[in-house]
Amino acid sequence: MTWLKSAVAATAVVALFAGVAPAQAADGKLVVGFSQIGSESGWRAAETKTAKAEADKRGIDLKISDAQQKQENQIKAVRSFVAQGVDAIFIAPVVATGWDSVLKEAKEAKIPVVLLDRQIDTKDNSLYMTAVTSDTVHEGRVAGEWLAKKTSGKCAVVELQGTVGSSPAINRKKGFDEIVAKNPGMKIVRTQSGDFTRAKGKEVMESFIKAENGGKGICAVYAHNDDMAVGAIQAIKEAGLKPGSDILVVSIDGVPDIFKAMAEGTANATVELTPNMAGPAYDALIAYKKTGTLPAKWIQTESALFTPETAKAEYERRKDAY
Ligand code: AHR
Repeated sequence: MTWLKSAVAATAVVALFAGVAPAQAADGKLVVGFSQIGSESGWRAAETKTAKAEADKRGIDLKISDAQQKQENQIKAVRSFVAQGVDAIFIAPVVATGWDSVLKEAKEAKIPVVLLDRQIDTKDNSLYMTAVTSDTVHEGRVAGEWLAKKTSGKCAVVELQGTVGSSPAINRKKGFDEIVAKNPGMKIVRTQSGDFTRAKGKEVMESFIKAENGGKGICAVYAHNDDMAVGAIQAIKEAGLKPGSDILVVSIDGVPDIFKAMAEGTANATVELTPNMAGPAYDALIAYKKTGTLPAKWIQTESALFTPETAKAEYERRKDAY
């Protein structure tokens, strides 16, 4: 019976690793598996591009798995990285909940996990080494404060939310809502998810315009990312109104297209989110591997506000980097 058990176990091991190339680079390079959400926005594509460039700079072997917006694909990718025995796993978590069990598997395999650009909901923070993200509540506040100042605190706002259940959608709403609560003349008259995409941003904005007297009742659109704002700008134009003046446009990310729109006068403000999340994550990982020192639990990136005055120069500076 014992040999039978070993044979079954051996078959199981072979089956588990069948078709899985060993992750350890023969040249001693660090191997990082990155479960990326997909390519829903210009910002996301830039993050992937930057992750590759920053890996090359440091001689890291980066394996990227595209989850096509599905958490189940991300969970599969993490399991595959664990099976391959990579040195670290980076995850940009599409939604905030539902990560504990797969992260426990990575922890049991002693593979450090780094969260990129989005946070997760967990009671056990030991399940990941660090998170490289912006303060997404603060981003919402910065956008809200800009709008409150611009409109002297009087504005009927429509809100395009990001992916339902994602940490930036939850937090960017929270931060903006705080500012609305402080300004009795500000009101969110419509709010709906545009899933962080340009196409859905346009579609939802069209429905807001229809519902709000052809757009005449709308003072501003607050979009949780620039891509949805660009979609909304198109919808406003098609409704015969002027984005940037008839309806103000404020959003988050700082991608080249929003700077182009600001330079053309069709958008008004954006809060920058750097696409270089992987660079600080690699540095933290390298330091950890060398010295055993754990990085801070949260490596926070900056969130600066940009307005049309610098838009042309910012567009020129960024257009090739994205
Ligand atoms: O998590 C970051 C957000 O995800 C970006 O603001 C957005 O463009 C992306 O899809």
